[in-house]
Amino acid sequence: MDDLVVSLDIGSTTIRVVIAEYDSSGKLQIVGWGSAPSKGVRVGVITNMEDAISAVSEAVNAAEQMAGRTVTHIYTGIAGGSIECYNSRGVVAVENSGREITQKDVDRVLEAARAIVIPLDRQILHVIPQEYTIDGQRGITDPINMIGVRLEAEVHIITCSLTSTDNIVKCVNRGNYFVNEIVLESLAVSESVLTKDEKELGVLLIDIGGGTTDVLLHYGGAPYYTNVVPMGGDIFTSDISKVLNTPLISAENIKVIEGCCVASYIDPETEIVIPGIAGRKHKHITKRYLAEIIEARACEMFNLIANELKQKGYSNKFPGGVVLTGGSSLMLGIADLATEILHVQTRIGRPQGVAGLTEELRHPGFSTAVGLVSYTGIKNGHLNNRGKKGKEKEKKSGESLLKRVFKHFI
Ligand SMILES: Nc1ncnc2c1ncn2[C@@H]1O[C@H](COP(=O)(O)OP(=O)(O)OP(=O)(O)O)[C@@H](O)[C@H]1O
Ligand SMILES: [Mg+2]
Repeated sequence: MDDLVVSLDIGSTTIRVVIAEYDSSGKLQIVGWGSAPSKGVRVGVITNMEDAISAVSEAVNAAEQMAGRTVTHIYTGIAGGSIECYNSRGVVAVENSGREITQKDVDRVLEAARAIVIPLDRQILHVIPQEYTIDGQRGITDPINMIGVRLEAEVHIITCSLTSTDNIVKCVNRGNYFVNEIVLESLAVSESVLTKDEKELGVLLIDIGGGTTDVLLHYGGAPYYTNVVPMGGDIFTSDISKVLNTPLISAENIKVIEGCCVASYIDPETEIVIPGIAGRKHKHITKRYLAEIIEARACEMFNLIANELKQKGYSNKFPGGVVLTGGSSLMLGIADLATEILHVQTRIGRPQGVAGLTEELRHPGFSTAVGLVSYTGIKNGHLNNRGKKGKEKEKKSGESLLKRVFKHFI
């Protein structure tokens, strides 16, 4: 077993790397991290290979320096518009004459459940069991050693385009590192910001980054629905820049320092100065006007999410509330706006649950990079306990994905 777990989050705004090490008791402990401004990535997808490689190398080098270790293998994430999800079901007859369900039966039923038709340019990234049914009795989480004749499995299947994973692997390989596994980012984020109780009850995770907003609904302890909205905090910045005729860089500053998502929270008299473009005169606007610009777009984003959930019939599947994370979750008032539109309590999720988390790593922008470490730790049984069979099953699907991805490059 490699004694390092290295995660790489290729974000649209920032590339982040976290290095964790197994300590003497076999627990993971973060020993270094690094970040670099993102280059060559748009809306969660690599668009310029050379730029992306240099940004990834810069972030990895920074983390290596802090940890005093050399990185070879990396766990990385995938998000962006190429992600699609399905809920599927498989049914098999139990093979054993004594009707006792074995691992082989579980493998067969999961194999049956993953037999969906997907286009040639796509692949299955994860097959996650939601629940099993034995002879009509639902809600079984681990069917091994139980008695029955008919075994059914409900699973959540996540697929992605081959091109996206190929480009991620190529980018990492060109930096002279190897990809251990590619994980759906929101799945990784869930491990760093959600609690077990929330996942059981039903919780909606919304990771609002720079280029994308990743949505993952957990229900009954398992992922139920995945969605990627192709807009994030950068669209607030671009709106501010266009409406107020100010360069993107000053629009970003104004957003972070003065921005708010709920205009009514802001005193209508307070004014702020907006730098003019290309030497033009500064102008004064009210802080409330700025908030109105941001609020309009934030409402559009949450309404998109709410409408999609309504269409699928999932609007009441998250009584455990909404958890917002990602850099844009730091926007003032955003939790209140989410509560108003999605009609449930909302909290901001910061990375937790791994030893060695510093103040910088508790930033919501680090949820993916820390989550990838947690995800790996949980899968290998080094953070807390999860169903052994589930772990093995997920490992299997990860391996098969990578085998297929690697064959293009090795
Ligand atoms: N204090 C703040 N208030 C409002 N927005 C903020 C704040 N801090 C960061 N942001 C915004 O967060 C966004 C970046 O978030 P994050 O680092 O999670 O994105 P990313 O992971 O690089 O991108 P993505 O996940 O979309 O690929 C930027 O749009 C940035 O302006
Ligand atoms: Mg992100």
